[in-house]
Amino acid sequence: MSLTHKLHSLAWKVPSKATTSIDAFVCGWLEMLDQTALPTTLKTVDCRTIETVWEGIKALRVRGAPAIGISAAYGVCVGLQTIFYDVDGTRRTPGEDEFFARLDEATEYLATSRPTAVNLFWALDRMKAKGESLRGRMSVEEIASALLDEAKLIHEEDVALCRKMGRYGASLIKDGGGYLTHCNAGGLATGEYGTALAAFYWASEEEGKKIRVYADETRPLLQGARLTAWELHENGIDVTVICDSMAAVVMLQGKIDAVFVGADRIASNGDTANKIGTYMVALCAKRHGIPFYVVAPRSTFDLSLESGAQIPIEERDPEEIRRGFGRQTAPDGVEIYNPAFDVTPSELITGIVTENGVISPITPKMIAEVVGNNRTVDDVLKEQN
Ligand code: MRU
Repeated sequence: MSLTHKLHSLAWKVPSKATTSIDAFVCGWLEMLDQTALPTTLKTVDCRTIETVWEGIKALRVRGAPAIGISAAYGVCVGLQTIFYDVDGTRRTPGEDEFFARLDEATEYLATSRPTAVNLFWALDRMKAKGESLRGRMSVEEIASALLDEAKLIHEEDVALCRKMGRYGASLIKDGGGYLTHCNAGGLATGEYGTALAAFYWASEEEGKKIRVYADETRPLLQGARLTAWELHENGIDVTVICDSMAAVVMLQGKIDAVFVGADRIASNGDTANKIGTYMVALCAKRHGIPFYVVAPRSTFDLSLESGAQIPIEERDPEEIRRGFGRQTAPDGVEIYNPAFDVTPSELITGIVTENGVISPITPKMIAEVVGNNRTVDDVLKEQN
């Protein structure tokens, strides 16, 4: 890689006195880059309680589907720590029943932080399944250490998957092209490198393609302007911020060769929930004959849902619109509607870029093979021919 991606939204920190794996579990904490402070301030929050992890997810200090999943996995570890201490702070060893009761409690609690990104539930289920698979076979201390390893694995796997998606995504990018993205689906939203933005990083850094990225500012919380523009600029990618309402005109002006966005949850037919405004961008792209790609790992698919109509959509505090960033921009006393996500129907999506290849055209059968059966797109196509 010619450029580095040094900024990580999440890290498990351990004090130097922690020498054993159980010490790393019991004394460690989750360090979260506070994305609400960007682009002006680079600061982290030390999450030493499960409540701070929950609050960090809820308040969007950490956000983006894969990063939420990784935080939740570490959050389970933070949540379990309490039962390894007596009220006076001395270390103790909990019994197995107590350990598993707390594991249930911690996962159920973290699951209430945000409803739409399925990676949250996927990571919590994976942590629970890991713990249960070791029940009765290991001491609770060994299970605790294995859970921290599992959280780290979820994190590391995500980093590797992002590179794979980046490579596949870059094959859809041409030298000299212009590309539009919405919200932030970059290194900040993942373990590292990103999903949609990974395509830009790979095209530019690994393949030397010169590209220009247009970043929708992404009302109401400006993830595009504050986060996407910031991280692309930090990584040397040519980026231009536009207001969301300018997407149609930049397409009309011929500035956009394709759209790349991330996803929070994808149903088994390919319908995709992503940041509010994505659907409108997809409609504009269709009108202008511009390819529209979603980039997401398998952990963002929810194959239990037949269509996007079943995806739960988070509604956020009206104050984010009435008084976003501290200044009143809508009158008191008027109704405000603030859904955080919308669903883009699969017929508006040209392809879904996964770690197993680009699903295009999108069919429930192809999604079942590539996502459900974890097969590469190439293998499935070879078999069909
Ligand atoms: O509300 P947010 O900021 O968590 O919404 C995030 C998005 O919609 C992202 O585009 C999505 O999670 C993809 S992350 C790689």
